[in-house]
Amino acid sequence: MKALVLAGGLGTRLRPFTETMPKQLMPIANQPVLEHVLTNIRALGVREICVVVGEWGPAIEARLGDGSRFGARITYLRQEQPLGLAHCVALARPFLGDDDFVMYLGDNVVESGVAELAEDFRNHRSDAHLAVARVTDPRAFGVAELDTEGRVLRLVEKPSRPRSDLALIGVYFFGPAIHRAVAAIRPSARGELEITDAVQRLVEGGARVTAGEYDGYWKDTGSVADLLDCNRRLLDALEGDVGIGTDGRSSLNGPVRLGPGATVVRSVINGPVVVGAGSLIEDCHIGPGTSIGSGCVLRGAELRNSIVLDGARVTGRSGGSGSLISDTAEVHLDTPPDAPPGAPGGQPNALAREVAP
Ligand code: TTP
Repeated sequence: MKALVLAGGLGTRLRPFTETMPKQLMPIANQPVLEHVLTNIRALGVREICVVVGEWGPAIEARLGDGSRFGARITYLRQEQPLGLAHCVALARPFLGDDDFVMYLGDNVVESGVAELAEDFRNHRSDAHLAVARVTDPRAFGVAELDTEGRVLRLVEKPSRPRSDLALIGVYFFGPAIHRAVAAIRPSARGELEITDAVQRLVEGGARVTAGEYDGYWKDTGSVADLLDCNRRLLDALEGDVGIGTDGRSSLNGPVRLGPGATVVRSVINGPVVVGAGSLIEDCHIGPGTSIGSGCVLRGAELRNSIVLDGARVTGRSGGSGSLISDTAEVHLDTPPDAPPGAPGGQPNALAREVAP
């Protein structure tokens, strides 16, 4: 089996953060989403991985390299425009050949991995096997209607009146029959080649299309709120050591992981919290669910349920709700939120976003 990882796209829901980095490199518990993806793919024993990239290709390639760090070989494929998930399959046809493959959206975190789904795919000898999960409001998702044996009868993209609560999550297993279906579809109303249309075509042509229910935690990390939720969730699994670098006047409680060279001075940290290499935390109060990247400087800051990107500078106090703080921001958290950007006491820039916890 091969793997096709989709890491192009525009990431409009994560603007302005995606103006300086691709969403697939956003850190969750201080590890880029794409590394979580590759870990799950490697757990299947898959070594041949194609990563489809858009304009952020060089940054993604710089981070993941040739794949040897993961025991894999990565081929990068440039998609000039985000013309849809099925377009990525067409683009990767020479790489995929007639092999089975797992297609994995590069902004999805699937906490418990996809090994069981891969086994179902093999056992069912399906032409397509879709990962689905029960959701309370299916209207925002691609929805699968199944028969009693788990065979897919119909796929509907964002239905206004869903007939099932099974949402497609970002992992699909395909045999070579998908290529004929992809070649036969036309762009949708939004101008994209939709993978749901290609799968629906398989269903209508009598191919074996099955679905497997995933019941662990998963998240499409395409928005700030979902990134923070996912970060909190993955930090909950942190088993902490206290690490070195504290000054004796700080209090570190619960699982707290300090990277090499990270320093904590006169601060309180209540885990689960991760702090990246070389970061300085001085006179701060850092609460649970917070990931601080590498090379950050935080002074007098109060944060919880937050992600601070590598290299960010943060001073001042915050109200305690979740924040995503960019590396290009020099953030003063105690500024009045309604002051205009750049005004004395105003927001220094738009790259610190707070959302309700
Ligand atoms: P989406 O989240 O559906 O699209 P997007 O990245 O453009 O995000 P937004 O809606 O915020 O603008 O994409 C899911 C994943 O698939 C994501 O990792 C990007 C990737 N993708 C491609 O690689 N090529 C494409 O043509 C599309 C549509 C998505």
